[in-house]
Amino acid sequence: MSRDINSLPIGVFDSGLGGLTALSELKKILPNEDIIYFGDSARIPYGTKSRSVITKFALQDTRFLLSKGVKAILVACGTVSSNCLCEVKELAGLPVVVGVIGAAAEKAAEIAKKGNNRVAVLGTSATVNSRAYEIALEEYGVGEIISRACPMFVPLVENWHADTEDTATNAIVSEYLSPIADSAPSAVILGCTHYPLLSSVIQKYLPTSELVSSGAEAARKLASLLAEKNLLNRNGGKTEFYTSGGAELFAKNALTFLQDGKAITAKHIDIENY
Ligand code: DGL
Repeated sequence: MSRDINSLPIGVFDSGLGGLTALSELKKILPNEDIIYFGDSARIPYGTKSRSVITKFALQDTRFLLSKGVKAILVACGTVSSNCLCEVKELAGLPVVVGVIGAAAEKAAEIAKKGNNRVAVLGTSATVNSRAYEIALEEYGVGEIISRACPMFVPLVENWHADTEDTATNAIVSEYLSPIADSAPSAVILGCTHYPLLSSVIQKYLPTSELVSSGAEAARKLASLLAEKNLLNRNGGKTEFYTSGGAELFAKNALTFLQDGKAITAKHIDIENY
């Protein structure tokens, strides 16, 4: 018997754990959805790779989620969203495929308009080089945009250096953010979905700025599109985790990351098969 489209799961993917910042928001606002999460931990980071490699990986991730029969996809990776969202959408052919750029830019512009009309974008090198955030923010009429690649942030998060007092983290965050602290942007887009884990340290160096979690904004956007298209599920609530890396380690890290007390099991898949 085929399932009706509403009861099909939502697919979420990232290069690793960062997309869990989008997933946790999604679970909060849509507790009755089934979700398939894929973290490409074996091939992280994406943010230092070329556009063609990022696209190849993103299409494999998409094919895996499609093989699970998803009704919608949340691209919970700033690097993929800024480099090849069109290719993902074309391959997926689903009514709802959402990346993080538009939603985060919209929120940041809204904040900036009430303040000094200045927005800083923090992202991976591939995200910053793509200029996707700048283009979106200009469309929303933001006056000044400061972009900063923060390539050391993802390894810090993946290796659990997110503590506010962590010496290495403070040194790196200070190095990246001190040059933009004087301009005190009203909004700072955490344009990589890993970065909200470093929020408390980032906020120390940009104390007057409002931080925008790109993953959380994208989750809200996806939820509103599903509602608009009458695609919501009222009877689900399970989340399945898959990774190209070690399943046990992924499950352990995801549990710490999500902090909702629910036991997690993850399955390893060979992403090269997709
Ligand atoms: N979470 C990914 C992003 O949003 C991390 C990028 C990476 O793998 O370098 O860009």
